[in-house]
Amino acid sequence: MAKNNIGLIGCGAMGSALVKGMVNMGNIDPGTVYLYDLSVDRKKQLASEYNCKVVENLDELIPYCKKIFIAVKPQDTEGLLNSIKPLVQPGQIYISVAAGITINYIESCLLPGTKTIRLMPNTPCLIGEGVIVISAGDTVTEDERREVENMLKPLGVTIRMPEKLMDAATGLSGTGPAYVYLFIETMIDAGVSVGIRRDVASKLVIQNVIGAAKMLDSNAQHPAELRNIVTSPAGTTSAALLTLEEEGFRSCLIKAVMEATRRSGELRFG
Ligand SMILES: NC(=O)c1ccc[n+]([C@@H]2O[C@H](COP(=O)([O-])OP(=O)(O)OC[C@H]3O[C@@H](n4cnc5c(N)ncnc54)[C@H](OP(=O)(O)O)[C@@H]3O)[C@@H](O)[C@H]2O)c1
Repeated sequence: MAKNNIGLIGCGAMGSALVKGMVNMGNIDPGTVYLYDLSVDRKKQLASEYNCKVVENLDELIPYCKKIFIAVKPQDTEGLLNSIKPLVQPGQIYISVAAGITINYIESCLLPGTKTIRLMPNTPCLIGEGVIVISAGDTVTEDERREVENMLKPLGVTIRMPEKLMDAATGLSGTGPAYVYLFIETMIDAGVSVGIRRDVASKLVIQNVIGAAKMLDSNAQHPAELRNIVTSPAGTTSAALLTLEEEGFRSCLIKAVMEATRRSGELRFG
């Protein structure tokens, strides 16, 4: 097993984002990345895009890789782990992005004590602006955690969280881009409703979201403080905020995140 080799099983949406981030935006040598997928076309396409190695089966990947990413759908994980089990080698690190599949479950399907890391990424990882929540099993050392975090840096920000909060991380962050897109879509429709052309409304709203997020990111103020600056007495913003409160904007959003968290728990097994 070569120390630097990386395996990726599952070359779909999230697997592709991981390869793109690590190879294209990061400094991982593509010659050290081995790709496998049930779909021959998908793995070949990804390999040719980033000059990675493509393998025919797991025998050509597992014994040669130190770190192995598992990026298949949760329902395909059990079968995959059973196929990996006879090939596992001590010292390897298995890194799973599968929603709801626990570290304990992965360890129990492989060898006891297998080093396992769980990630909850979100789709902006595709452009290096994602956030990846990380939980690691007890046998993963601090150096190994840092090594994996460094590999993932080009995809965005990494945040460590205890595994018991992974469902919450899924409900808030893995699902998070969908809430923001719905907000943006609705704001654009609102712009059209008050007479602004759709393309112009779209520019206004997207830049509002980017600008507001950058202000929050750059000056460490609480969102309420920044909101107060925009809200003049008896002005337009206070009228809008009153309507949002009356219509239950906040409670609706909080309930949505709680519901996504609950659903993530339902999907969990292990
Ligand atoms: N997409 C997201 O935004 C997101 C966010 C956070 C976490 N995740 C997690 O990322 C994982 C992958 O999601 P995805 O959206 O990337 O799914 P996807 O696009 O369907 O990709 C999964 C790929 O794995 C292949 N596959 C299935 N079983 C396999 C096996 N035994 N060996 C090798 N390849 C196999 C599938 O092939 P077939 O299509 O032929 O079955 C498919 O090409 C999921 O567990 C999900 O929970 C995704």
